[in-house]
Formats: sequence, structure tokens, C-alpha cells
Amino acid sequence: MDMIVRPRRLRKNQTIRRMVRETRVDAASLIYPMFVIDGENIEEEIPAMPGQFRYSVDRMPYELERLQKAGVAQLMLFGIPEKKDEVGSQAYAADGIVQRALREAKRQFPDLYYITDVCMCEYTSHGHCGLLHGDQVDNDSTLELLAKTALSHVQAGADMVAPSDMMDGRIRAIRTLLDQNGYEDTPIMSYAVKYASAFYGPFRDAAGSAPSFGDRKGYQMDPHNRREGMKEALLDLQEGADILMVKPALSYLDVLSDVKKATHVPVAAYSVSGEYSMVKAAAKAGFIDEDQIICEMAVSTYRAGADIYLTYFAKELAGFIREGRIG
Ligand code: PBG
Repeated sequence: MDMIVRPRRLRKNQTIRRMVRETRVDAASLIYPMFVIDGENIEEEIPAMPGQFRYSVDRMPYELERLQKAGVAQLMLFGIPEKKDEVGSQAYAADGIVQRALREAKRQFPDLYYITDVCMCEYTSHGHCGLLHGDQVDNDSTLELLAKTALSHVQAGADMVAPSDMMDGRIRAIRTLLDQNGYEDTPIMSYAVKYASAFYGPFRDAAGSAPSFGDRKGYQMDPHNRREGMKEALLDLQEGADILMVKPALSYLDVLSDVKKATHVPVAAYSVSGEYSMVKAAAKAGFIDEDQIICEMAVSTYRAGADIYLTYFAKELAGFIREGRIG
């Protein structure tokens, strides 16, 4: 056979395949999203997300220990408050659920890295990500509350804040307030390119944060738009974002790849609740091999450009990396 180039030469065995790998995966880039809830002695499984739990502050340390043992040192906290109101006051209360969780977690596990989701939707009675004026989410009056929320998280010990609300101008508003209070060293990871996605369905069950009317299409992005992702990414860079996130991950790898090419900051991808729940359900039905799917989804996301990967499978992935099944 007259054939000079034979790609199979580099696939002959595991050693050569690993040698020529283009994508390498490291547990240091994983972030585990975790739910903390007001109350005591609570560790309740989230029905739409089998294997994921809501923890009260007293039970949270057990999960933090499991995380640390699994080799995942970075987490993102989401709060589920007992009381909600029109203006989401528990989001920026000094003794709010995230603030209390942070103080306790930092005391017991000072070596973990704590990132907080900054948003209003878990805290407002109407479930929208900002203040309402009539039936519209008002952009500019929401900025002050988001900035206050971020500041209260940092004062309670957050190492990094991650605004997910999609209001215009929130990165600048948060940066300014943090700097005014002496926190110029605290980084912001912006949910810069966040689409209005049905993949968030299970999360809204988990956090009780579904909007009571309408949807989030007035602030989150239209899934039809790719170039607009760049507009959002570049805008947040100008406003001072240190890390840019694309969300969801799996259906938006084209956007992730664009953001990686067009910028020079670390890029994060969030494999959201719907991605998790689909894998869990299909695996339970016996349709797919759960472990291999978890690995392939992660590899695809890193290959598309992710430097950081937020995933509910973080503990499992850290194990697979250690065992050499991925990476
Ligand atoms: C809060 C927020 C959401 C998610 C992260 N932060 C829900 C939403 O925007 O409706 C989704 C995470 C997931 O689905 O895993 N705004």
C-alpha cells in the first residue's frame, strides 16, 4: 500500500496515545458547585439531581471534608434562604446563609478556595435576578444590591465572587465597591456569556429560584447568538473581570472556543444542572456508561478552550484523573 502518512501510528498503545495528547486535565482547575440552606441538621438530596444535596451550615463540613479528600480544593457556594422578599435582602445580609456558611467553612477548612455565586434570584420572592419595576427587571437599581451582596460575601471570607445575574454594568459596580472597601485583590469571575437555557431547570428546583412569572430572556442571552457572546465577554473584560465564564458548557462549546481565542484571561465553563441530570438519568436507565460520559464531557470542554471547569461531577472527575482514566 503506497501510504506515507498513517495516523494510526500514534494510536498504537496507551503510552503513545498519552504522549501525544493535546488536552490535559488537572483537578486544580475543577470547581464544585454546592448548595447551602438555612436551618439545622439538613442534608437533603435534590430530587432532580440525584447525588447532589442541600446542606445546612452544621452539616456542610462533612461535605467539605469529602471534597478535600477527593482532591477538589475549589468550590462555588449557592445559598438557599429561609426568607425571601421583593428586594432579596437575605442576599446581602451580614448573617445571610452564604455569609454564615463562609465564616464557618473558612474556620474549619481554611485551605479550600471559596467562590460565591452573586445573584438575587434565590432571594427574591418573585424569583427574578434583580429588582422589579412593574413586570420588568430594572437594571440600574439592581447594580447597587449586587455590589452589596458581593462585598458582604468577601467580608465573610469569600476568596472570589462570581456574578451570575446578567445585569449590564455589574462587573464595574462590584469592582468599584470592592476596591473602595480595600478588597482590590479579590478577583471577579464573571458569568459573562450566560444563555437563557432550559439546562438550568434542575438547579431552579434545587434552589427554589424559578421565576414566579415570565422568564429570564430579558437579561440572559439568546441561544441563537454566537457573536453576541464576544460582545458580552469583551465588555466584562473592560469592566474588570479577571475570569470569563461561558454557561452552559456542552451545548455552547463553539462560544467557549471563540471566547478563548479572542481574550487573554482564564476562561471557565459551567457544566450546569441539566447536563448533570441528563447523565444521571440516562445512566440509571442503563443507556450510557456514566463514568465514560463524565470523562468525555470534561475532555470536550477543556479541548474547546476551558481553563476552569465547574461541574457537579468534580469529585468523580478528580478520582478519574488520579486513576489515569482521563487527562
Ligand atoms: C443564578 C444561577 C443559576 C445557575 C447558576 N447561577 C440559575 C439561573 O440563572 O436560572 C444555574 C446553574 C445550574 O443550572 O447548574 N442566577
